[in-house]
Formats: sequence, structure tokens, C-alpha cells
Amino acid sequence: MLFIGIDLGTSSVKLLLMDEDGNVKNIVSREYPLYFPHPGWSEQNPEDWYKETMEGLKELLEGFPKEEVAGISFGGQMHGLVILDEKDEVIRPAILWNDGRTTEECDYLNNTIGKETLSKYTANISFTGFTAPKILWVENNEPDNFARIKKIMLPKDYIAYKLTGVNCTDVSDASGMLLLDVENRKWSEEMCEICHITEDMLPRLYESYECVGTVLPDVAAELGISVNVKVAAGAGDNAAAAVATGTVGDGRCNISLGTSGTIFVSSAKFGVDKNNALHAFCDANGAYHLMGCMLSAASCNKWWMDDILRTKEYAKEQESITKLGENHVYYLPYLMGERSPHNNPNARATFIGMTMDTTREDMTQAVLEGVAFALRDSFEVAKSLGIPITRTKICGGGAKSPLWKKIIANVLNISVDVLETEEGPSLGGAMLAAVACGVYNNVEEAAAKIVKVVDTVEPDPELAAKYEKRYQQFRQIYPACIPVFEAIK
Ligand code: XUL
Repeated sequence: MLFIGIDLGTSSVKLLLMDEDGNVKNIVSREYPLYFPHPGWSEQNPEDWYKETMEGLKELLEGFPKEEVAGISFGGQMHGLVILDEKDEVIRPAILWNDGRTTEECDYLNNTIGKETLSKYTANISFTGFTAPKILWVENNEPDNFARIKKIMLPKDYIAYKLTGVNCTDVSDASGMLLLDVENRKWSEEMCEICHITEDMLPRLYESYECVGTVLPDVAAELGISVNVKVAAGAGDNAAAAVATGTVGDGRCNISLGTSGTIFVSSAKFGVDKNNALHAFCDANGAYHLMGCMLSAASCNKWWMDDILRTKEYAKEQESITKLGENHVYYLPYLMGERSPHNNPNARATFIGMTMDTTREDMTQAVLEGVAFALRDSFEVAKSLGIPITRTKICGGGAKSPLWKKIIANVLNISVDVLETEEGPSLGGAMLAAVACGVYNNVEEAAAKIVKVVDTVEPDPELAAKYEKRYQQFRQIYPACIPVFEAIK
């Protein structure tokens, strides 16, 4: 049997083909455009997602026995607002997780409705990228579009809907909408009222590993697969990555270095920290997790390499970096504002500390270190909640860099376990499909059989001490910049 994982990411869709023993047989990725129609706004066309997913699926299956495909599932970029009208047409481009336009709506939700009330209904407070404030933004700014809404869904759920005709989502991804009663894994009536929507506009809720249906006959014919191929609900990309890295059970940690950067801690029981500094979400295995999310992680390096240095030689640029722990240049990674832990859509990226002897290497190093320091900010929040983290898994595009892994191990002063593959959400999606098809009894069993740690990057006490000093300096830069960010917004 073969299983397909679809990671509907922000820069591209990544598709992965896995056999029933968890061996990765093929990986394909296809890019689509990302639009920034206004500073701090971020949009994509759902039709582009579907088109590239279908083309990618054809490419993925080329040369493989298509009749052996048994299941498909997803990891998807979270929080994006996809709205359809009564003809199932997309009403406007999707507003993405890293879009910062909803400041006023977040103020209304957090201050007029109140953080305590939101936390009581959903276990979370409002952040600009979450889905509920975007619904209010459409109501406030595009009333004609708002009036046409018949279906509200998340990015990966649009693909599931096109593949199966079933309007479904899973509890991990739904957690990031600020419409879900996370503890009880059901839609919050109160939040629907607050957002002036009705529950019948929302998808049906499933656990990530549950089968929602089978592929539609025309889809099956186009792909050359059977109409019996099962589709499982899948998970938000971070929860799917947690499955792929074996971050299931209690108190396990995963760092994802994708377009966003996340620190993800699995927990057996429901729990919320009293400041809601970390997101409290449902997990893909039926339990819960806490998560801190920075909006620009590997995307900072991508921006620095592709757009500024204009090179694709990422590894070569990092080869000549040798002065770890001694860089006098600092970089704040807030290219799209920041979510965890600052919750400030007006924050901006900044280099500081350059002198006439500053080199290209110093600047590149500062970008990698700035992302690690910002991850440490969320890591500190987790530690302050009494969660003891001494080791982590790591995945995402940024995890391909040995240098970045070393910097992270030393900035956080924890062991970093490296896995056979850094493909987080797509592998997690394929594993969820395998669970839905009954190959594994549950997500834990799939993770125990499939996930393989191949190396561990241990922190070096001397270097960790140097980075501790640098981190204490880094921490002073953002508070000093807040008034400037306000002034230049
Ligand atoms: C998580 C988040 C991001 C996106 C990236 O809360 O917003 O990690 O899911 O795809």
C-alpha cells in the first residue's frame, strides 16, 4: 500500500509518497505565488493551491503503481481564511496566517469581548493571523463579500473538499480559528455569534487520523487512482510535523524551521497558560499541545539569500561562517511583524551593530542567530510554565543546515535530535493516512515504527555560555525598538 501526504505550505505544496513501512518513495514540490497587496498583508489564491496540488500529485505518482495508493492526508498552513459562496466559488483570495491587517478586530476581540472570555470559549486569545478576526475584517471592510459567505474553511480543507466533496476539517487546524472550544473539541456557539456566522458555514470536525471520505470519481480518473482511496482529515502543519517527528505523548518538543518557526510541546492533558502566551491547541493524536509561533523563520534566510544577496548557494554562504557566539551584529527577524511572544504586527526586521569591519558572513550569521534568539523567546515562555525541555526534534527546510542546527542547540542549550528526513508535515500527512487506513492502530504506534533519529547535536558548554551572553543582549533590542516601530508604521 502507498500513502500520500500533502503539505500545503506557504511557499509551495510538498507532496510525499510513503509505503506502509514508512519508507519515503518520492517527494515533489511545486511553488505558487504569494501576494503582499499591502505592507503586512499576505494572500494566496486557493485555485493556485489546487492546481499545483493536482499537477504535483501526477508528478509524484509517475512510475509508481497507482493502484497501490490507499490513502491521502494533509498538513496545511494554519489559520488562513478561505470563503466560498453558494456556487462553491472562492469569494476572495485567502488571507493567510502571517497577515497582519486585523489589528482593529483583534483589539475588539481581546479588549471589548475580553481575553478572559475568549480564553474561556476557545482556550486562546486573538492574534492578527487567526481566522476569527479575519472574518470580522471581511465583515467590516468587504460587506458584499461577507454577505456571500456560505462556507468557511482552512487552506488544506479546501483541497480536501475539492478531492472528496466533503466539507471537513480536523481539530488541530480548527484550534487556530479561534472558533473552536479546544478543550471539548467542538465549535464554540458563542464565538460563532461574536463573529456573526452560523455553525452550518463551518466544516464538520474530525480527528486528524479519521477518514472523511474517498476521492471523487473525476479526481480518481484524472490521477489514475482508485475511487476507493481514503482521505483522512489531516492536521495543521505543526501538528502534522509533530506526528512526523514523533512528538506525540507528554512533554515532547519539536522545532519547525519553515516559513514560520515554531516551538511545539505535546501534552497528554488539556492546559492553558494564564497569559495565553502560547497557543493551546488540540493535537493530531487525540490529545493537546502548546505552541509558540514566530512569523518569519527560514523565510528570513530565504529573503536574505534570494532577494538581498541574490544567490541560491545557501550552503556555500554558510561555509565561511566560523565565529560562532562572537558576532557583534544582531538581527530582529520580524519581517511580517511578530506573533509569539510579542504579539506585535507593527514589529519590523532590523539589523543592528554593524561596524566598518562587518562582513557579508557576519550579516548572514546574524540572520540565522536572530531566528534562533527569537525561538528562544518562546522557549523561555514554555520554561516559565514549568515545562522542562532538555531536548527537541527539528524539521522544516531550515533544518537542512547543520550550522543552523548547531546555533539552535547552543542558543537554547538543549540537545537537538536530527531525523532521517526533515520533511515534517508531508510525512505526518502520509502517516495520518496510514492510520486512517488501519495500517497502524493509532498515531503513537505509527510514530514509534516510522520515526528514526539519526544524529543528535549536543550543545557545547563554552559556546552555549557565549550565546547566553549574546541572547541577553539580543533581548534588549526589541523593547528599545517598540516606539520606533510605532512611529514608522
Ligand atoms: C502556526 C502558524 C504557522 C503556519 C505556517 O500557528 O501560524 O506555523 O501554520 O504554515
